Amino acid sequence: TLPDHFGKPVPIAVIGGTGLSKIDGYTPVAALTVTTPWGAPSSPIYILEHAGVPIAFLARHGLHHQLAPHEVPARANIAALRSLGVRTVIAFSAVGSLREEIKPMDFVVPDQIIDRTKGVRPFTFFEGGVVGHVGFADPFDPGLAGVVQKCAAAMRGDGVVLHQGGTVVCMEGPQFSTRAESHMYRAWGGSIINMSALPEAKLAREAELAYQMICMATDYDCWHTTEDVDVAMVMKYMDANSKNAKHLVGAVLDELCKEEHSDMVLAKHWEGSAQGAVKFM
Ligand code: ADE
Repeated sequence: TLPDHFGKPVPIAVIGGTGLSKIDGYTPVAALTVTTPWGAPSSPIYILEHAGVPIAFLARHGLHHQLAPHEVPARANIAALRSLGVRTVIAFSAVGSLREEIKPMDFVVPDQIIDRTKGVRPFTFFEGGVVGHVGFADPFDPGLAGVVQKCAAAMRGDGVVLHQGGTVVCMEGPQFSTRAESHMYRAWGGSIINMSALPEAKLAREAELAYQMICMATDYDCWHTTEDVDVAMVMKYMDANSKNAKHLVGAVLDELCKEEHSDMVLAKHWEGSAQGAVKFM
């Protein structure tokens, strides 16, 4: 249960990825240890407050970055957020670029996903007697994507470059791709590659949440003539751009807190999308 102070629901959550563990202008006012039928989430859920609006923040890889992508308890993360009243999730991710024009430090707001996970991650809430099928043709929320685009456009003067739309290839990892795979993903039309979009986005849809990923390019994977990706490269670019990343997420939260976006934030568009789920036991 929420402390008294948070008797009200927390409508918006940020899932921080590699290199994003804080958000500018937002003060943590509580750290909640939540448990769910799917276990404990990756980290305590911090409640941040800005102008009276509570925001949940969860570190996807844990507070000490101790969880590999295939170890992230995505069901517990989504269920824990939903139990706090969350209806909108802004998820951050470091990605490799599969396109020349997406340069390291550029932001991308993807609108499609290709699933290259290997089925080893628990990927659904609908099992064990609960049968349901949700639409996933468009895995992200176009309204949230529009808000991110608008906020990034206002930061162009600070050198922020954002690519609107694109396909994120979500691979299993934790090893990076082979060169042949990297070229294949480009031929498939992939724009960027990560290890974290799934099953998070699928579970968010099953939980009827509005979900949008904001990606930041940290490398050209291994298809490019520049250096092949390694962890040091990902961290170097993440650090170099963390100011802009925090700033952008903060601006998106400011915008989402406006009354005019309340239907979108409360995920009215997704309400009932999992209603066909039937419990047989
Ligand atoms: N995350 C950051 N860069 C990546 C890459 N090249 N492949 C997969 N995940 C990544």
